[in-house]
Amino acid sequence: MDRRSFLASSLALGGGALLARPASAARFPDGFLWGLATASYQVEGAWNEDGKGESIWDRFSHTVAKVKGGATGDIACDQYHLYPQDIAILKRLNQKSYRFSIAWSRIQPAGTGAPNQKGLDHYSRLVDALLEAGIRPFCTLYHWDLPQPLEDRGGWPSRDLAGYFADYAGILARNLGDRIAVWAPFNMPWSFTWLGYGVGVFPPGRASYNDFLKAAHTVNLAQGEAFRAIKAASSKATVGSAYGMEPVYPKTDSAADCAAAARFHAFHNLYFLDPAMHGEYPKAFDGETPYGAMGFRSGDEKIMKVPLDWLGVHYYCRLVVSDSSGGAPASASNRDPMSRMHVEVPNQGPRTDGGLELWPRGIYDLVMQLSRDYNHPIIEITETGGSYMDSPDANGRVADVRRIAFYREHLAELARAIADGAKVRAYHAWSLLDNFEWGHGYTQRFGLTYVDFQNQKRTVKDSGLWYARVAAANRVDAD
Ligand code: FCB
Repeated sequence: MDRRSFLASSLALGGGALLARPASAARFPDGFLWGLATASYQVEGAWNEDGKGESIWDRFSHTVAKVKGGATGDIACDQYHLYPQDIAILKRLNQKSYRFSIAWSRIQPAGTGAPNQKGLDHYSRLVDALLEAGIRPFCTLYHWDLPQPLEDRGGWPSRDLAGYFADYAGILARNLGDRIAVWAPFNMPWSFTWLGYGVGVFPPGRASYNDFLKAAHTVNLAQGEAFRAIKAASSKATVGSAYGMEPVYPKTDSAADCAAAARFHAFHNLYFLDPAMHGEYPKAFDGETPYGAMGFRSGDEKIMKVPLDWLGVHYYCRLVVSDSSGGAPASASNRDPMSRMHVEVPNQGPRTDGGLELWPRGIYDLVMQLSRDYNHPIIEITETGGSYMDSPDANGRVADVRRIAFYREHLAELARAIADGAKVRAYHAWSLLDNFEWGHGYTQRFGLTYVDFQNQKRTVKDSGLWYARVAAANRVDAD
């Protein structure tokens, strides 16, 4: 089960509002960066080539019954070998930014120690080819594929990983920092710490609240340490983030529901942002922050605090939260921030084939809230997308009209936020390619390019062609 299925498991159904159509053309600021995103484990394949070590996703997917259909990322989209083709697609689609991630286990097969030159060479070639095509390389250091040997040494709950991660970040910045200026240490830290250690549906599959608290604290320390390591090695580096965020709405305007929604927003959206921006945890807990259980040491607030140069935000859906405590006070056994609230993925809007509600207005609300609460930071939309299963017709064309409507609606709302003062400078659609969708294996298709996994043939979908026109015109037309 992935993050969304997990959230959807506490679902309550609503009524049927239709999507609003944008009234007129939505223009974007000059120089706006149109982009596409992928992640190493989801597209690269070549899982054990050129000295790459095993990652926790290799171990998880090789373990029977963990991923739908027994699917693995062993081959995935074979981007490790086919990246020139993929960069040619980016160029053809007028893209100006490519957000990719580096597999730590290609750089340090055991997670520590001397770098593997073949791994560095691969990413060096990728970056050169992007620059050659006039595309900005946006590098995520960690999109969930921890080297398995580090999990064997305790995983993210072990504080040592903050230092190992900073070493890895320094290696990357020393070797690629002359060409990469945009770095995000983590992709969706809430998801891999909560789902991997707190709930156990992601690798390493642990279900322990205390492990989550410790893992999340290590990640906050690692975020700060990596920020400093990257900046120390590359004078042109800018360091931001790639947080998965969902705007949170209270179910009713009762004080209890509003308080629960505020706590969930703090827990889900701000748990890795406030430590960076303010050096402190947000008010995510019903009661005292459990510093002891986190392994918090005096001075950690300084390690965590790093003034991010820009905020990366993914938007997939909105969430509706209500209080479920019935007025009972928090006790030692129910302090888990999730235990006294009910979280719903509503379905007033239409649903994607992946089951998520379309709620374009949510991207406006989220971006405006961040702009207000964090003093108008520079924002990059690091992911937005929907799973639609359209496949090639008899002529080989993929007419994924619902995906075009999806992006048209979301981009209209984003343009509205920019017009209302939000400093958004980039948008990355998820994803360049259909790919390995974590626990769903290959049963979800998020790509603007169709991939035939039998022969690796890529076919740009109608949505990709549409997105290319948007990028060229820097404008979204109403139809
Ligand atoms: C995001 C992940 C990304 C992809 C999309 C559909 O949560 O960052 O890897 O799986 O969802």
